[in-house]
Amino acid sequence: AAEVHSDITEVLVTEEQILERLKEIAAQVDADYAGKDLLLVGVLKGAIMVMADFSRALKLVAPIDWMAVSSYGKGTKSSGVVQIRKDLDTDLTGKHVLIVEDIIDSGLTLSWLLENFESRGAESIEVFALLRKPDAAKVEVNCRYVGFDIPNDFVVGYGLDYAERYRNLRDVAVLAPHVYS
Ligand code: PRP
Ligand code: MN
Ligand code: MG
Repeated sequence: AAEVHSDITEVLVTEEQILERLKEIAAQVDADYAGKDLLLVGVLKGAIMVMADFSRALKLVAPIDWMAVSSYGKGTKSSGVVQIRKDLDTDLTGKHVLIVEDIIDSGLTLSWLLENFESRGAESIEVFALLRKPDAAKVEVNCRYVGFDIPNDFVVGYGLDYAERYRNLRDVAVLAPHVYS
């Protein structure tokens, strides 16, 4: 495989910074959901790392389910067409759902998902996104917990991919344009 560092122009958020921020957000979630029937829903595949670290930073005991949706495929732009690749295993009736996402870019994936979840009888539905790009928003997403607001660059690592690669980088980094142009 090609060496990773030549594909990266800049580390944007380090693993250490992520883990620190996850502790802060987990403390908020512990307080906000005390005594409630919390269900964590991760959005595959990008959310795998943040779900692993965030769920273990919680003191609350909460089940984890997954939804697999994809809109980017191999490109760097959202197709706008969201496809369900795997649905939830859990009935949302009466549950307090916290969707865990790696990134809100255009917002299309989450706005589609929130609309899809609306008819499933959840008691509440909130969103935690580790990263958000305010300058890329095409639709507003009501996101209760945000890790970091970042500039409008194409980022990879800590679960985020370009054409399925770079998910296993520890930090969040800007992908060098030569990789995708
Ligand atoms: C990425 C990312 C978010 C979504 C954000 O997923 O993980 O789910 O795009 O972009 P948006 O706000 O513009 O919709 P992707 O569709 O690449 O699938 P993946 O998680 O399997 O990589
Ligand atoms: Mn995703
Ligand atoms: Mg992707």
